[in-house]
Amino acid sequence: MTPHIESNKEDIAKTVIMPGDPLRAKMIADKYLTDYKLVNSVRNQLAYTGYYKGKRVTVFSSGMGNPSMGIYSYELFNFYDVEEIIRVGSCGAFDKDLDLYEIVLVDNSYSKSNYLEELTDEVNNILSSNNDLNRQILDTANKLKIDLNYANVYCTDVFYNHVDIDYLRENYNCIATEMETFALFSNAKKLDKKASAILTVSDNLITHEETTSEERQNSFNKMIELALESIK
Ligand code: HPA
Repeated sequence: MTPHIESNKEDIAKTVIMPGDPLRAKMIADKYLTDYKLVNSVRNQLAYTGYYKGKRVTVFSSGMGNPSMGIYSYELFNFYDVEEIIRVGSCGAFDKDLDLYEIVLVDNSYSKSNYLEELTDEVNNILSSNNDLNRQILDTANKLKIDLNYANVYCTDVFYNHVDIDYLRENYNCIATEMETFALFSNAKKLDKKASAILTVSDNLITHEETTSEERQNSFNKMIELALESIK
């Protein structure tokens, strides 16, 4: 038990899939897991542990933004002995040719967040995802014939920001923006754990196209299947 998680230690798997939305965690468990049970409902931050094709996995919602992701991923890594976390979420595209519903595998996360500095005293604004996990995800995508954009993202603390897209593209090769990878990768770095992130494009900041909720669900399923099939 921690201040935010009521689960027994043995009820959390070594591998965790993390959507932002608690109801997405429920949807993933209902649709994909067998023999599963609810393992957290503190603050309605729903989590379920079960099996996907015989592999034990926990689906734990992170909430939105670095501080929320920071709390849950820290507690899972540090107090529940979780070894690897794959975030599954959405992102806003910085490139007019990055279409809605395309999938991004995050290479590096660039952020102005001071999360890492507060956590470790290290001053660093670019954090990488885990190579082993990425290899598993890339190999699985290849096998399932899922196209991936393997690229950097900009992790912001401010959804309603004045983001300089050209600057982020030119200097940091960021192709999209989201709000949770930097805290996740900071915790993984400090605690010597593995973390990666798979994102689907939910809106395009250049063309201002947005997804409808039904279409979003379909592309979301493809991303979840990729994450679940990738784990060992
Ligand atoms: N900004 C930040 N996070 C996001 C966005 C966005 O436009 N779209 C999906 N997650």
